[in-house]
Amino acid sequence: MTNPNRTVIIIGNWKMYQTIDTSLAFLKTLLPLVSDASCEVYLAVPFTSIAPMAAQTKETKVIIGAQNMHDASEGAFTGEIAAKMLENAGAKFVIVGHSERRRLFNEDNAFINRKVKRALVDGLQPVLCIGETLQERQAGTTQQVLHSQLSECLAGVPSEQMARLIVAYEPVWAIGTSQPASPEEAQAVHHQCRESIEQMFTNEVAQKISILYGGSVKPDNAAAFLDQSDIDGLLVGGASLSPETFNQIIHCQRANALKNL
Ligand code: PGA
Repeated sequence: MTNPNRTVIIIGNWKMYQTIDTSLAFLKTLLPLVSDASCEVYLAVPFTSIAPMAAQTKETKVIIGAQNMHDASEGAFTGEIAAKMLENAGAKFVIVGHSERRRLFNEDNAFINRKVKRALVDGLQPVLCIGETLQERQAGTTQQVLHSQLSECLAGVPSEQMARLIVAYEPVWAIGTSQPASPEEAQAVHHQCRESIEQMFTNEVAQKISILYGGSVKPDNAAAFLDQSDIDGLLVGGASLSPETFNQIIHCQRANALKNL
């Protein structure tokens, strides 16, 4: 099972779905279902939903965050959003480096690194996404690609700040494809990522950091991922859009934890 020293975190990533109205209706259904959840429940929602959802989730199990931000503290960047604006709206965390941002908006590791550092300075917990493409996997370079993503995106982050950061391993070929990695495959990669983090920082940092798996997570495969010792939680896209389905994933973890007591 997941290492007891690390809290299990289940993050929903809504991408560009949900209006303010549908976000609040979602919460109304989800909140009573998850009040007894044994894991941490995060929701990365559209910018417009952050403030109203943060207001409705005070003193609940659900933590609201954003899916992206700019790396500057403020400035003439029409259409962009700063970490302190998100924090002021009630966001507690931010996803950075999602493969859709890397692929569709040409974000590179250097830019993502600046975002990670900005998020930490301006009071948001970064959720750093990394993952190899199908070509990289087929070429046998997965480990190298992930090691460079980690070292370039985390360059200059002080060790003592690493406890505030979450890493999400999302193989690009598994996102939105209904073809998840196998739990064993994911476990092997997570273990390597933890070793990379140990090389960059310390053993203590590597043991404490939460590394989540993402890519076609559904209620029927969630428990098998959480059974792996280096998988500390899940980043869920499509299956987080329905409160009932997302709740099944959250409670699969709970059932799993109870089973292993
Ligand atoms: P998916 O997306 O669960 O729909 O595959 C995961 C993600 O993009 O974070």
